[in-house]
Amino acid sequence: MIVLGIETSCDETAAAVVDDARRIRSNIVLSQVAEHRPYGGVVPEIAARAHVEQIDGLIRQAMDGAQLQFSELDGVAATAGPGLIGGVMVGLVTGKAIAAAIGKPLLAINHLEGHALSARLTDDLDFPYLLLLVSGGHCQLLLIEGLGRYRRLGTTIDDAAGEAFDKVAKMLGLGYPGGPVVQAAAARGDPAGIALPRPMAGREGCDFSFSGLKTAVRRLLDNNPGLTAENVAAAFQTAVGDVMVDRAGNAIAMAQETYPDLASLVIAGGVAANSHLRQRLDTLCQDRGLTLVAPPVELCTDNGAMIAWAGVEHLAAGRSDPLDTLARARWPLDPDAKPMPFAGKKA
Ligand code: KG4
Ligand code: ZN
Repeated sequence: MIVLGIETSCDETAAAVVDDARRIRSNIVLSQVAEHRPYGGVVPEIAARAHVEQIDGLIRQAMDGAQLQFSELDGVAATAGPGLIGGVMVGLVTGKAIAAAIGKPLLAINHLEGHALSARLTDDLDFPYLLLLVSGGHCQLLLIEGLGRYRRLGTTIDDAAGEAFDKVAKMLGLGYPGGPVVQAAAARGDPAGIALPRPMAGREGCDFSFSGLKTAVRRLLDNNPGLTAENVAAAFQTAVGDVMVDRAGNAIAMAQETYPDLASLVIAGGVAANSHLRQRLDTLCQDRGLTLVAPPVELCTDNGAMIAWAGVEHLAAGRSDPLDTLARARWPLDPDAKPMPFAGKKA
């Protein structure tokens, strides 16, 4: 079974071909970072236009890379949400057109489900497992119980983790996107003696909040003009690490109530590229008898392979979607989770 996957929900245009033997036949990702950099963040209209301009050529490259004709595909998977609606529409309508033209099923994939299942593509993981999804648009802890069975244990009540990295980088004059530059600066800095809050730490449950931490960094800089960007970056990253360990620790305990033999914590999303956070979570997992599973960075950040793989899983389970499926800006993975009206940019 071979599936083409298309991803256009944020600022990466991506297409990939994956089969049910977990082989990634091709995986092409085009980042729009350069287009958005002058604005210090993703501009939805620029993103949608760039997706329109690039998507055809990218799919061509993915098919050529896989050395396949469209007629050899068994299905076409495209992200149908959540995300920036203009971009989601570009990818979904393209997927529908290809599916209709070749007479093969369409798989309308939830972007979060793509992240959630990618560890099954890369590490052949069995259900259940815990997922910490941390990106520019999301910050959630999810219990992945089976295909289509996702329980949200915690989410952010305001900003996503990546947003906090991006905003702090801006305050420190380090550039965009913030994660990699904050990490690099933090590696040269010393967090000692710089007091920052650990929002939500010590509280029940495993929700996140980053807006107070961001404001605290702002105030710290205003009141202490002599502080170096390196030391502040290190203090900020340490605070985020403390929060993540506290929240993930609670999530592990919550998940173990249902699954005492829970074996793995998976991390995904752009922030999962952060080596300090990986190290902290690895130690937490060792303490709790779990394994930390971190897919390679190029499969942690947005990509088409995870969408194609989610398509493979659905197709193998005998389901597909009608061609009139609508694109959705919001689409929680867990329909029972209570909405967080101010949370993040996407879900
Ligand atoms: O998953 P992603 O590529 O796109 C979506 O947001 O969906 O994540 C991008 C986010 C950005 O906010 C970026 O600053 C953050 O991931 N990021 C990092 C690192 N690399 C990327 N955050 C912390 N440390 C990093 N090394
Ligand atoms: Zn994503």
